[in-house]
Amino acid sequence: MMIHVPQVLTSEELAQCRAILEASNWLDGRDTAGSQAALVKRNLQLPEQSEASQSLQAIVLAALNRNALFFTAALPKKILPPYFNCYTGEMNTFGNHVDGSIRTVPGTTQRVRSDVSCTLFFSDPEDYEGGELVVEDTFGNHRVKLPAGDMILYPSSSVHRVEPVTQGARVASFFWTESMVREDERRRLLFDLDMNILALRQQIGDTPEVVKMTSTYHNLLRMWAET
Ligand code: NI
Repeated sequence: MMIHVPQVLTSEELAQCRAILEASNWLDGRDTAGSQAALVKRNLQLPEQSEASQSLQAIVLAALNRNALFFTAALPKKILPPYFNCYTGEMNTFGNHVDGSIRTVPGTTQRVRSDVSCTLFFSDPEDYEGGELVVEDTFGNHRVKLPAGDMILYPSSSVHRVEPVTQGARVASFFWTESMVREDERRRLLFDLDMNILALRQQIGDTPEVVKMTSTYHNLLRMWAET
């Protein structure tokens, strides 16, 4: 399931993030890639423990915490600290790869399973050429390039790539979430049910049937979620 989450960041937060990013030093992104991904990864990344990364992480995590669409789509249990990357010049692409399934929280021994991958865009689509995130699934390839402040959420199990940026710079944040519901199919069922209940409540209010459907949603979540 791929979900577009619009306007995760306010325009003030976006401006704040861009100011921090412009003053930051970038490193070779291969430092954090697994051996297979390192072969196809050509981009820049902020050092993960830097002051800039930590300020940006606080802004992004606060924005995620208040976002109801992110919550219902990802059903987050643990969110790994977001990373920040830039595709430009020679460091402009990340070929087909799959994200590692188990990740360690930096500076700890805590392990987190990656169920949901997210990319949050800081650059406007007009600021660069190319740079689409391409996610492969059973329905074919999805090509994603979103407005600044918007985010795409996709299953961490999918093969994906970032097309070469041929002009300008593409700056984004990416991070992984361990979901309370491990299976993408179950998350999709819960998401569809939740969205339909929301629409029905708006159309007809809390009729007894809508209340019962809401109870079915929560009972399914109770059955499937690991907290
Ligand atoms: Ni990836």
